[in-house]
Amino acid sequence: MMSEEVIVTTSRKAAPERLAEAERWAERLHVPVVPRTDLSLAKLTTAAGVPGVLVVGGERVTYHEPGRGLNYFFHPGMARRRIRNYESGHGDPMATAMRLQAGDKVLDCTLGRGTDATLASHVVGPSGRVMGLEKAPILAWLTIEGLATYEIDDHLTCEAMRRIEARCADHHELLAAQARRSFDVVYFDPIFDQPLERSSGMIPLRALACPDAVTPETVALARRVARRCVVIKQRRGTELWEGLGAEVTLVAGGKSRIEYGVIEP
Ligand SMILES: C[S@@+](CC[C@H](N)C(=O)[O-])C[C@H]1O[C@@H](n2cnc3c(N)ncnc32)[C@H](O)[C@@H]1O
Repeated sequence: MMSEEVIVTTSRKAAPERLAEAERWAERLHVPVVPRTDLSLAKLTTAAGVPGVLVVGGERVTYHEPGRGLNYFFHPGMARRRIRNYESGHGDPMATAMRLQAGDKVLDCTLGRGTDATLASHVVGPSGRVMGLEKAPILAWLTIEGLATYEIDDHLTCEAMRRIEARCADHHELLAAQARRSFDVVYFDPIFDQPLERSSGMIPLRALACPDAVTPETVALARRVARRCVVIKQRRGTELWEGLGAEVTLVAGGKSRIEYGVIEP
């Protein structure tokens, strides 16, 4: 979804500060604000000739596409459970694949809703650094705002979220502009070409996401920036590894149907 196919509005009978907030969202996304009036979201989007609308409500900001019955808002996914598991000594397959330790610098090139970045941010701690890049503007801004403001009743998760440097950016451009060996780990979790069954939480995110695949060119850019390794998440049994032009070591994703490909720089 390109942001020019979107309008911003408020919930019905919104307080004046919601309108000011809606205007800030419209500026970020370079799209118009449309007064809500009494119209349904379906009628509002039809009248504006766009498929999507971002609704600034009292509780949260939600993206709706009435034509597809789609709605998406930020939440940190499994971050809290993964941090708890990690703290209980059960580890985390992504952190294992990255050989992650306190003080590391991680570049998450596919930030999405920031679940992986939050786990990484917890492991590297305040002496480390996690930068997250998301190309799809609506997803990016909902995640930037969510990581900075979402309240969760777990201080470790909350602090890890707040420390992430999230940006709306294309990872190809940012990688090309980075200094050599400037991050310990460069990470990719691209949209799988076939969704995992039962992963229904991914459906709205997939609809908004940028479908860029990881190519040999992407891997070459990432290897220049990585000091320790480039890590790519994929569904188990993928054919991606054969075509990347690099030696890939596989690390199992716990009991799940995913695996991590690790490439040395
Ligand atoms: C499967 S999701 C990542 C989920 C994420 N690991 C998490 O924990 O929430 C992949 C994300 O990468 C983003 N993406 C795809 N190509 C990109 C690019 N060239 N630059 C930055 N982000 C990109 C997509 O828009 C999508 O949000």
